[in-house]
Amino acid sequence: MVSVHDFKRVLFDQKTIEARVQELAEQIVEDYKYGELVILTVQKGGARFSSDLVRAMVDYSLRTYNDVVVDILETDVKLSRRPNPKVFLPEPVMLLPLDPNIGYEGRPVLVVEDIVDQGVTMRYLLDRIQERNPQSVSVCTLLDKPSQRTVDIPVGYKGFEVENVFVAGYGLDVNEKYRHFPFIGELKQEVIDRLLAK
Ligand code: IMP
Ligand code: MG
Repeated sequence: MVSVHDFKRVLFDQKTIEARVQELAEQIVEDYKYGELVILTVQKGGARFSSDLVRAMVDYSLRTYNDVVVDILETDVKLSRRPNPKVFLPEPVMLLPLDPNIGYEGRPVLVVEDIVDQGVTMRYLLDRIQERNPQSVSVCTLLDKPSQRTVDIPVGYKGFEVENVFVAGYGLDVNEKYRHFPFIGELKQEVIDRLLAK
């Protein structure tokens, strides 16, 4: 079993996350309401955030523009710098590539990610997307750790900034654990050490 006590503290509880996702959804609908938006979710960490975000976008659209919903193409990609707990790679590996059946050319793209830390993962992905000649690319990240950045990333939408602590929950994991927790919190160091030693 895993426990709430594996966390040192909760940074963002469920209600706080929900409210912020709602705000971001409204902003994104307003910004993209005339386009055919490609929402590219970065697996696995961005999956929960992205699905809640899209649901909130649809709810807001229906409430605000009766019967009309933003036109969205949902797709995903899987990248990891830690394909197993023993390694941390200087560049991510594409575990699931960009879907060749999704037409990026001439369309606006919104990349939905759990966290931008050093920015290396996002830089690699943005470069792959640019090769497909989209109309525009914007990044929507739930969490941003700007103090850790080693490469420049334009973040169009962010949920929250976090300091340099290792966080988990609401999609974010350590060695595949804690993604299912409803809140985001700082894990105890001994928990991280134990999981990464496996
Ligand atoms: P970057 O290449 O350093 O920006 O790393 C980004 C990736 O590392 C994210 O997609 C996350 O999967 C992972 N990551 C970075 N910081 C954390 C964290 O605090 N908790 C969980 N995963 C993290
Ligand atoms: Mg990730």
